[in-house]
Amino acid sequence: MVSNGFIMKKRSRNSIKEHIERLTQIGIALSSTKDVNEFFTLILSEAISYTNADAGTLYLTSSDKKSLEFQVIYNGTMHIPMKVIDKSYGWKPVNLYVEEEKNLKNMVSYVYHTKSPMMIEDVYFQDLFDSSGTKAYDAANGYRSKSMLAIPMKNHEDAVLGVIQLINAMDDDGKVIAFDAQGSSHLMSLTSQAGILLTNRQLIDGLETLLQDFLRSIAKAIEHDSKYTSGHISRVARLTEMLADTMNNDDEYYPDVHFTEDELKEISMAGWMHDIGKITTPPHIRDKSKKLETIIDRITIVKARHQAIKLGLKLKHTRGELDDVSYLAELKKLNDAMAFIQTSNAGGEFITPEAKARLEEIHKNRYQFDDETISLIDENELRNLQIPKGTLLPEEREKIQEHAKVTWEMLSSITFPAKYHNVPLFAASHHEQLSGKGYPFGLKNSQIPLKARIIAVADIFEALSAKDRPYRAQSTLSQALRIMTFFVKDYSIDKDIFFLFLDSGLYMEYARKFMDPEQIDDVNIDAVKAACQPGK
Ligand SMILES: [Fe+2]
Ligand SMILES: [Fe+2]
Repeated sequence: MVSNGFIMKKRSRNSIKEHIERLTQIGIALSSTKDVNEFFTLILSEAISYTNADAGTLYLTSSDKKSLEFQVIYNGTMHIPMKVIDKSYGWKPVNLYVEEEKNLKNMVSYVYHTKSPMMIEDVYFQDLFDSSGTKAYDAANGYRSKSMLAIPMKNHEDAVLGVIQLINAMDDDGKVIAFDAQGSSHLMSLTSQAGILLTNRQLIDGLETLLQDFLRSIAKAIEHDSKYTSGHISRVARLTEMLADTMNNDDEYYPDVHFTEDELKEISMAGWMHDIGKITTPPHIRDKSKKLETIIDRITIVKARHQAIKLGLKLKHTRGELDDVSYLAELKKLNDAMAFIQTSNAGGEFITPEAKARLEEIHKNRYQFDDETISLIDENELRNLQIPKGTLLPEEREKIQEHAKVTWEMLSSITFPAKYHNVPLFAASHHEQLSGKGYPFGLKNSQIPLKARIIAVADIFEALSAKDRPYRAQSTLSQALRIMTFFVKDYSIDKDIFFLFLDSGLYMEYARKFMDPEQIDDVNIDAVKAACQPGK
């Protein structure tokens, strides 16, 4: 007997109550299940247990909506436990169309197209569907498929997300019987509940993915735009994730820290977002690698001036305005000054008070050619060359530091999902220092969230170990770790996070992934840790 749909029997008040209770329970279980495979396994288990079926399959509609793919299977008699079928099984999906026509000869495909449940008392004795495949399978496996029930899994828009097929309902003695309408009705309630939950989840996941992809693409754009710090944000994000994972499994420094999956995602997202404010930092400041650099390195202008002065001196000599001795002395003085400027222009050069005075003197030295007075370096170039450490003028440093505040402003204007609402704070606090001397908020000690401190350690270590910074010589692993000890000692970064980084061996794991082999030298961890003690 073939029965399309089912007839609602008049059920007792008690069974309806039980039915609702069971649905409520399964609804709660389904909505709290994070893993999507667990979700489907739970649905099939409930379907099998409620109908006392011997076997069952949960199919999912393929993304191109052309087939139904195996997702979860179970067969009691054949001792096949409930298991998820992934692509590695190579099982052929059920085609929903045959030569562009709806495939109505297959039971699950039929249910997909009609969007209604279908029951069969004995699959061998019906002519609606092609049972040759079932018979062949049974013959090969010593099984006898008899009663069948297939239910569509629909969402609120009536789209079929998948189909559940159950085989051989059994009575209490294990005898195969027909499925009944009550089971079918229960399963329809179950599958529609599951369909809606699944769609909601897909929508939420979709929005989360969209948000993450969008923010990451901005981070990538900033990286792309920066000629020297490409990869900085991705590497910091990766190291942040690695540190958070390590902290989660650590019993020594952080025995009480147990980040949830959502928290780990939140930390990762904050890592990706930490420098998003750099989008407003002018590239010539962000990438200023020489003291004289603006849009171009102005050393080229100084060099041109040097050549012009040289020609002027030569002309004066030819005209007899300068004698041989004075000409050679002037030439030497000029060349020495040029060489000194070139050395001073390097980002790593520390400008001593003596060097500062010498540059001042070079600037004051004027050359007179006809009606033109010329100096090797002008006022602005002098000021830049006199930058004592690094390449940045105070106002440029301020502009760069502004990025943390901009990160905060940009991210706090986005409505993050509630579970990620702290992403703006964690991301924007990566330049805060335990001493309170950091920025943009000037937070101190425990005011700085642990998740922001993780990013701070990752950010500094990446900057010290990166191979592409133009303003300093490339550090080896041991040198980078040694410099980190100064940050610990002056109370900038969290010592425990740094020690965890060392003791867990994460520093080496990171180095092997992201540093050049020639940067990786021997590291004495005990010595690095000892150097973190005050007074060392
Ligand atoms: Fe930053
Ligand atoms: Fe950074």
